[in-house]
Amino acid sequence: MRPLPTTPESLLPLVLAAFAETPDARLRQLLASLTTHLHSFVLEHQVSQAEFERAVAFLVGIGQATGETKNEVILAADLLGVSTLVALLNNPGAGGHDSDAALLGPFWRANAPVLEAGASIACDSTAGVALEVSGTVADAEGRPLAGAEVDVWQASPVGLYENQDPQQPEMNLRGRFRTDAEGRYRFRTVFPAGYPVPTDGPCGELLRAQRRHPFRPAHLHFMVSKPGCKVLITQVFPENTEYLDSDPVFGVTTALVGRFEAASGPLPARLRRDFTLAPGETVFPHPPIP
Ligand code: BEZ
Ligand code: FE
Repeated sequence: MRPLPTTPESLLPLVLAAFAETPDARLRQLLASLTTHLHSFVLEHQVSQAEFERAVAFLVGIGQATGETKNEVILAADLLGVSTLVALLNNPGAGGHDSDAALLGPFWRANAPVLEAGASIACDSTAGVALEVSGTVADAEGRPLAGAEVDVWQASPVGLYENQDPQQPEMNLRGRFRTDAEGRYRFRTVFPAGYPVPTDGPCGELLRAQRRHPFRPAHLHFMVSKPGCKVLITQVFPENTEYLDSDPVFGVTTALVGRFEAASGPLPARLRRDFTLAPGETVFPHPPIP
């Protein structure tokens, strides 16, 4: 018979021994390490029964709050900085640049409309300050990539994504563009506004308990891809926008702060943003919402 535990500290080796036959080596390693951290966390902080129950209720709550319009589980990982950590760790930057990876966030939808170069992603009824976005997509050696896909999504000038806002048509402020022979893309839109991350679920309760505000700085999201290259998920933030240094999801890095040229006369504001794709497998994320 296997030994039985006698003290809190004697439990971990028995748990690890029970995991030892897991055939998948990576799963075995990750589960053993995670469990070791969890056991030392419980021992170090002398976690009480009530605290354990509270943690379980939080996990149940984020699962139950996940649905058609939001993914509270991803949001929880975002608020702990884990999504940004995973993005930076796995995308060290290509062509000698700092990483320009960013967290995906909960609002990306697959199959946004494919639009012609220069088209607007904002439907006519979206009032806001006009913005023109353009740039290039290149490989790590700086060679332009023709036929790359630039998938963009953003919140409206009132800070709501289309699927959160019954006033906006389906897929408003979302679009996919293909780069031309010189690797260029361009589109028109309106300035996004900063917005609060959803606070009506357990994550909102967490933020309030920590006295943290929920406002993300204004930003545009991009997912740039081409077969044979790693998919780049990134964001860009205007340099003077509010909350840059207190983003609740820690999504702002130096590399992601962009220079927006102010509008002058009839010319719209402009953003120029170039992307570099690293070689690798082209793997798209699972859409957090349908
Ligand atoms: C977003 O940028 O869309 C986002 C990211 C994390 C949490 C909530 C929203
Ligand atoms: Fe966003």
